[in-house]
Amino acid sequence: MKRVAILLSGGGSNMVKLVESMTGDHPARPVLVLSNDPAAGGLSRAAERGVPTAAVDHRPFRGDRTAFEEVLHARLLEAAPDILCLAGFMRILTAGFIDRWQGRMLNIHPSLLPKYRGLHTHARALAAGETEAGCTVHEVTADLDDGPLRGQARVPVLPGDTAEVLAARVLAAEHLLYPAVLRRFAAGDLTPVRLDSAAG
Ligand code: GAR
Repeated sequence: MKRVAILLSGGGSNMVKLVESMTGDHPARPVLVLSNDPAAGGLSRAAERGVPTAAVDHRPFRGDRTAFEEVLHARLLEAAPDILCLAGFMRILTAGFIDRWQGRMLNIHPSLLPKYRGLHTHARALAAGETEAGCTVHEVTADLDDGPLRGQARVPVLPGDTAEVLAARVLAAEHLLYPAVLRRFAAGDLTPVRLDSAAG
């Protein structure tokens, strides 16, 4: 059985879907939900589901990312995870941290990578006149929002979409994609998951 730690910064809707998926014959179980924000809504949602939680507040480490990551890493080691899932974890990680978890760390990003790395993905996709949007799960490497693709879900962009409406459609697709990728990844299968019109 693989041990999974989930890192988040916000409400944790993806975390909830991941945790709920890890039952029965699933090859993994959640062992820790960890946040850089002690007030993150995802921490209480994890605790309600019986998953151990921890927070390492990044703010006292301002200007010293490495020191923050040392504490994060130490806290993770206590939970001895085999796999890390970044699920709305909004801190940039240094190459030093990523190296330690390389091949064992997944991230979900709300765009069809390699398009729209970084922030404000939905507004940028709409501004570019895209007819299709979606989300990507990839292994984390030292390059921001890059690394081997492990899954992608596509949704249509519809007439009249605002960034908020599109974000909600993509988030629904994220909730299908991430659990599907984690199940495969935890079983040692690196074949990318493809979901077309996942929420359409
Ligand atoms: C998700 O849309 C995720 O793709 C995005 O943050 C949201 C977290 O929502 N991640 C990034 O933008 C990473 N660069 P959640 O807390 O409800 O899962």
